[in-house]
Amino acid sequence: MAPFPGPRRTLRIMAQEAPTDIHSSLNETRIFHPQDAKCAGFDRWHISSLTEYKDLHERSVADPEAFWRAEAARLDWFTPFTHVLEWTPPDAKWFVGGSLNACYNCVDRHVQAGHGDETAIIWEGEPKGAHTSHSSSFSHYAAEPEILELTYRELQSQTSRVANMLKSLGVKKGDVVTIYMPMVPELAVAMLACARIGAAHSVIFGGFAHTAIAERVIDAHSRVIITADGGYRRGDIVPLLKNVEEAVELLDSHGHILNHVLCLKRTAQQPPSQRFHTGERRFNNTRFHWWHDLAPTVTDACPCEPMDSEDMLFLLYTSGSTGKPKGIQHTTAGYLAHVQMTARLAFNLIPDSGQLFWCSADIGWVTGHSYVVYGLLMNRVPTLMYEGAPNAPSNDRFWEIIARHKVTHFYTAPTAIRTFMKWGNELPAKHDLSSLKLLGTVGEPINPEAWIWYHEHIGGKRCPIVDTYWQTETAGHICTPLPGAIATKPGSCTLPMLGIDAAVVNESGHELPANKGGLFVIRKPWPGMLRGVYHNRERFVSNYWGRVKDPATGQPYYFSADGARRDSDGYYWIQGRIDDVIKVSGHLLGTMEVESALVSHPSVAEAAVVGYPHEIKGNAICAFVTLKSRWFSEHAGRQPDDEMRKELASHVTKEVGALARPDTIRFAEALPKTRSGKIMRRLLRDVACGVEKITQDTTTLEDFTVVAKLRADEE
Ligand code: WT7
Repeated sequence: MAPFPGPRRTLRIMAQEAPTDIHSSLNETRIFHPQDAKCAGFDRWHISSLTEYKDLHERSVADPEAFWRAEAARLDWFTPFTHVLEWTPPDAKWFVGGSLNACYNCVDRHVQAGHGDETAIIWEGEPKGAHTSHSSSFSHYAAEPEILELTYRELQSQTSRVANMLKSLGVKKGDVVTIYMPMVPELAVAMLACARIGAAHSVIFGGFAHTAIAERVIDAHSRVIITADGGYRRGDIVPLLKNVEEAVELLDSHGHILNHVLCLKRTAQQPPSQRFHTGERRFNNTRFHWWHDLAPTVTDACPCEPMDSEDMLFLLYTSGSTGKPKGIQHTTAGYLAHVQMTARLAFNLIPDSGQLFWCSADIGWVTGHSYVVYGLLMNRVPTLMYEGAPNAPSNDRFWEIIARHKVTHFYTAPTAIRTFMKWGNELPAKHDLSSLKLLGTVGEPINPEAWIWYHEHIGGKRCPIVDTYWQTETAGHICTPLPGAIATKPGSCTLPMLGIDAAVVNESGHELPANKGGLFVIRKPWPGMLRGVYHNRERFVSNYWGRVKDPATGQPYYFSADGARRDSDGYYWIQGRIDDVIKVSGHLLGTMEVESALVSHPSVAEAAVVGYPHEIKGNAICAFVTLKSRWFSEHAGRQPDDEMRKELASHVTKEVGALARPDTIRFAEALPKTRSGKIMRRLLRDVACGVEKITQDTTTLEDFTVVAKLRADEE
């Protein structure tokens, strides 16, 4: 690529007023122009002007096959593909006839090319002090805090060993391996080990509870779980193994055959073997294996299995508008092609230029899959993994990490930025953040106030910010600024990524004029697109392809379930989900999932869950709950109170996980419904937001009936 050719450009701020909330993004008029390369600390940009971007984008959409053929050439293939795309809407096959391996592309090829001794992963554990006990076989090991560096060669030997461990447990090409681990390097190793032998991984976020684990294991037909005894989080130990034990009990009771649990010792709790022999045996011992027991029984040589382009690389469960999470399926070649391209261009990744990329997302989310693991390793830029919480032991841990490791790229979520703002400007100011060159955000719309704070207090006004819009289903970025080419407007994810034919349309598929809100769609297939919802064809078709069509050809468009508008510069402003899915602290949560958890409580008759705006989390959860009459007779004279609220909130935490814990619980004698029996969610949302007033604190049947009637007349 050409070195940065442009004239020196200085940062320009068009207007000074800081809008204070997300909704005011409509009026946002500030523009931040692409940085002068020296000022931002990059020697060159992959794409360095708006004209270059526009030209490339236009060509990539006009002739996607030519564009993606060139991108696929950046991967290493065992067998070249014969043609780029087979498109039978809504089914796409990319790079047909080709074979390759994801682990090979992330690890082995770098070793082959002589980069074996370069750092691939830098990891920092949460605890500080000497009391930790990471029983790893990795080489470099420091005491304070625990830091570990893994080279590509070590990664090759570790992934091979774990691949052989999995083989010794009977895992074969095409199987689905469930991974439920803390943010330790072995998590990345486990994923890559699966890829190495052609097993798909299904990573479950460590914050999920046992029921959520069991549900996903059953849906995935998974027979093996890789976990750890625990993980450190905010000074506590997350009892991962205990959650797995409870999940296994559930699986057993459902008749699901789980063959093996492979467990890494991270927190050195009591080994289960000791507990299980004393009565409450949850695993039979032939099913349970310590990682460190199995590791020495196999070699560290294992070839990378040639996989068809369209073989499944992983499943990742995401929330939808039913109570049951969807297993989003991604395939090998398309995922890799899309993710290597977006990582390279959105973050201007350049190997051997001293870059160190830190994405603070957990690998349990797609952000971690694409931009902690695959996107970075493929581009041979080292990736930093941090195990724990931002406030452990104090609120400046993130800034300390950036300073300690000289992080150049930092990628996090708006909800985290809003929390940092609340914690105060003096915390980042205490640390040397001058290594930073680029900042990113992901997961939800960022309010301009948080954007400006991030720019000033973390980026020192010199780092471009890329606000990346995408989804679990899209594999990688869909709209994002390219830092050397596209000027940014706080709150906008700017323009579509190369190869992405985005549009804002109405229900009949017609593109809307500037500044009209509509549906965000993608009109042409792209390699990273999901290939299915696991074992649920109907959901795949109806969720994503059933709503909007090309008005001319009748071909379906991919619908993201997000509302958006495009401004007169063609910039996209994502307005958020228009289905019954809410974003809480950047995490998707189906309202139905929380409702199902609530009604599984023996005292709950009915529940409805809605989101309402929250200063830090973006959205908070409000649950409207009707208790069974039995509860009232059993608790004579008692009204549902805070104690009951606590009980229900803990129940949801136990069933789904802490991320689903309702912020507000309101008791109602009945829920407002339409004549056909559908809960009037819009009304409940208004009530939760305080738009619709209910006369008493405890919502009553009468109140709802009155409001519901009024509403029914309106509609
Ligand atoms: C939903 C997808 C993106 C990977 C992590 C989350 C919202 C995501 C942005 C952004 C506005 C955003 C959308 C989308 N979203 N990024 N930059 N600006 N909204 O993946 O859990 O599948 O969530 O996150 O609503 O549909 P996910």
